[in-house]
Amino acid sequence: MDRVNKIIKNRDYQKYLNELKKMEKNRKFCRHNLPHFLDVARIASIINLKTNAQIDDEHIYAAALLHDIGRAKADVYDPSHAAVSAKLSEKILRDCCFFELEINYILDAIIRHDDKNFNNVKNLSGILYIADKLSRPCYMCDMKEPCFWNLEKKNLELKI
Ligand SMILES: [Fe+2]
Ligand SMILES: [Fe+2]
Repeated sequence: MDRVNKIIKNRDYQKYLNELKKMEKNRKFCRHNLPHFLDVARIASIINLKTNAQIDDEHIYAAALLHDIGRAKADVYDPSHAAVSAKLSEKILRDCCFFELEINYILDAIIRHDDKNFNNVKNLSGILYIADKLSRPCYMCDMKEPCFWNLEKKNLELKI
């Protein structure tokens, strides 16, 4: 997990996390912070083991840690935070010693993490999508009613 630890210590990564923290200070809906990223990483890792998908843990953790960082900039550059996250992640992954093929693979999963066509696919994109949704405890959330997630996305009971 050396390269994953490099991401956590990466200055750009920390800068985007801080920007997100400031931006979401008064947010009433789910936040996009390190606890969310780690929840997604660990749930994805569990799914990986359960389904024997044999995805490298470093790729899972890298994708999970980076998948929402674009929310810090999405309003400015692009309405799709997934695409912005991928754009910002490229340099971070390169700075953290991931190889080109790995970078493309991880960026692809980040770009697709909000694409419901991947909700049943047992590859990095699909597992990231599923883990991201499962990470939210809608069943205990005060904002369950106003939340824009449709019923199909909401976790109305604990599943994993
Ligand atoms: Fe997202
Ligand atoms: Fe997310």
